[in-house]
This record gives sequence, C-alpha cells and structure tokens, in this order.
Amino acid sequence: MSRIPLPYNPKVMDLFRNPKNLGKMDDATVVAVAGNPACGDMITFYLKISDQQVIERATFESYGCAANIATSSIVTEMIKGLTLETAWNDITWKKVTEEIGGLPSVKFHCGVLAVGALKRAIRKYFEEKGGGAPSWLPADLTFEEKQALEEEELAQRLSKRLKPEAET
Ligand code: FES
Repeated sequence: MSRIPLPYNPKVMDLFRNPKNLGKMDDATVVAVAGNPACGDMITFYLKISDQQVIERATFESYGCAANIATSSIVTEMIKGLTLETAWNDITWKKVTEEIGGLPSVKFHCGVLAVGALKRAIRKYFEEKGGGAPSWLPADLTFEEKQALEEEELAQRLSKRLKPEAET
C-alpha cells in the first residue's frame, strides 16, 4: 500500500530538514514538556529568560512530525528578543501557521502543540519564580495549553484510549 505524501510547502520542508534551534539547552531558565492528545507526540521547549523577562534564546526537542518540527523551529525564531508578555500575546498558532506559509488542515494541531508548549513554558516560569503571576497572564488555560498536555496527563489519556472496551 502506498502512502500519499502530505502537501507541505517548501518552507515547511526546509525547516523540517534544517531546523533552527534544535536541541537541549543546558542553561535554560525554564523547560516545558508538552504532548498532543490528537497524535501522542511530544515536544520540549527550553527558554533562556533575562532578568527583564526578555527571551534571549529558545530551543526545542521534538518527537513529532515534519509540521511540528517546522512550527517549533519557527516559534523559537519568532520569540527571540521578545518580552514574555509580547510572546504570550502575539504568538498564536494561526500566526505561526501563516508564518510558515500554511499547513495542511490535518496538521494544524502540530502547530497548536508548538505554541501550547511555549505558553506552558511561560506559565511555568512564573510558577517557579514565585511572587504571583503578572496581570496579563490569564488564570484559565488557553486553547493551546489545553491542547498541549503535560506528560502524565498525556500518558493517562493515551492509556485510556488503548484500554479495551468494557464488556457489557
Ligand atoms: S502528527 Fe503529532 S505533532 Fe504532528
């Protein structure tokens, strides 16, 4: 049986083949792992944040597909030099998808995962720092965060999915 390749545009393919900022960051200020309930893939985001809350560097590790590697790569480029507040407000999965020239609709969730991991990292930064969250950070999880589950939550969801139906 042959598989029909997805219609990725050249920018996605280029970022997939030559991703920027791929790899672990040893001196990261915050690290967030996020998994996607739609496909079970995981990514890790590493952010180096200055005392002025500016993102100095960002890297990622991805166990996802080409679309996820490409969107994660472009997110790490887009957020460099932004304050956490600007990154939080301006980086949406729609904007990221536009920035890479579009994705097949079945791959939208892969970009959502990249942005969800970023948002989880920003939220985690304030949790770990203590002293309360800033006024611009909503108490409720955003759409992207809800679609980017923590490792344990993802494992639970997936194991539920794998359990055989209870006999009636
Ligand atoms: S299919 Fe899982 S991240 Fe793309």
